[in-house]
Amino acid sequence: ATNKLLLLPGDGIGVEVLAEVRRLLALIEQKGILSFEIDEDLVGGAAYDAHGVAITDAAMAKAKAADAILFGAVGGPKWDGVAYDARPEAGLLRLRKDLELFANLRPAICYPALADASALKRELVDGLDIVIVRELTGGVYFGSPKEITDLGNGQKRAVDTQVYETYEIERIAKVAFELARVRSGRVTSAEKRNVMKSGLLWNQVVTATHKQGYEDVKLDHMLADALGMQLVRAPKQFDVIVTDNLFGDILSDVASMLTGSLGMLPSASLGAEDAATGKRKALYEPVHGSAPDIAGKGLANPIAMIASLAMALKYSFGKPEVAAVLDRAIAAVLDDGLRTGDIWTDGMTRVGTSEMGDAVLKK
Ligand code: NAI
Ligand code: MG
Repeated sequence: ATNKLLLLPGDGIGVEVLAEVRRLLALIEQKGILSFEIDEDLVGGAAYDAHGVAITDAAMAKAKAADAILFGAVGGPKWDGVAYDARPEAGLLRLRKDLELFANLRPAICYPALADASALKRELVDGLDIVIVRELTGGVYFGSPKEITDLGNGQKRAVDTQVYETYEIERIAKVAFELARVRSGRVTSAEKRNVMKSGLLWNQVVTATHKQGYEDVKLDHMLADALGMQLVRAPKQFDVIVTDNLFGDILSDVASMLTGSLGMLPSASLGAEDAATGKRKALYEPVHGSAPDIAGKGLANPIAMIASLAMALKYSFGKPEVAAVLDRAIAAVLDDGLRTGDIWTDGMTRVGTSEMGDAVLKK
């Protein structure tokens, strides 16, 4: 079977960090590990400059046909004046919406060599490796009514509505259980069933889904506020955490600070499984943006992008062992003391984007 991969470098350092991934893809092919059918297109400001839109219909068609998309980053001050619908970020939003990428995976990995850069004490985070699975297309960010009304007496009323239906909870729970199977086999589900009806349904549906063939995975439930506390107290107790859009937004930002730098963090956004092929739509991207302040200078840290490739190998291309090799290569170059500017500390060897890419490639 061919592995269809779409590269969308985007803008700024997106282009620079994706260049390092191209070299790794070439190595993977050269070693006969996987063969890819690689396509490429413009997104964000680059697409706007060429076509007047943040992503073309032709690029969307390629995205729909791809087994996985590797996305760099979009945006920059150059496009500040562009109309709302054509702004660079609209390209990413259209991809998420049209491909229905409902599951957002945000790993928090703390490489031992960087443990001192964490917001927590070294012993709490050294070797940390957890993934937060955030529901991305439902919940309070999208439910209606969503409005501010004027009550006429100098008072206003704001309403947001949290809505979840069974199928939305079931499909995200399945993503979490399947992820846990290629990790260490544990899922913690977080909600507020004590005060929210949507939390109660979340708890019931996750529990019922677990019984439909996922009982090899160990499932725990925790109230979301308590989980937030545990995430800072003893984060290594977790493996996969599954939660709704709002709690996932907050908890994944908290988790990211356990690890060090923005330049280290990968992410994945997964869609529904295709009934015929069993494959799911997937977009992999670093958490960081296009970093206009350092763009074009060869200074960007490519590790978040490289770790995003590792996620693609693990979750889209069925090669967790190759992903593990990549993760070990990243850890090894950090152990050797190589640091881009964002993670540099006294005594370490300062390197640029391509030197960091070279070092990972060699390992
Ligand atoms: P940013 O993530 O681009 O940069 C924040 C800071 O972190 C900057 O000082 C930057 O130099 C540094 N940084 C980020 N990634 C780095 C890396 N790999 N290596 C070394 N240093 C790194 O966020 P910012 O500045 O808020 O946004 C810049 C542009 O990126 C904006 O146009 C924003 O809309 C866009 N953006 C795009 C995202 C995406 O494409 N998914 C996500 C976040 C922001
Ligand atoms: Mg956020």
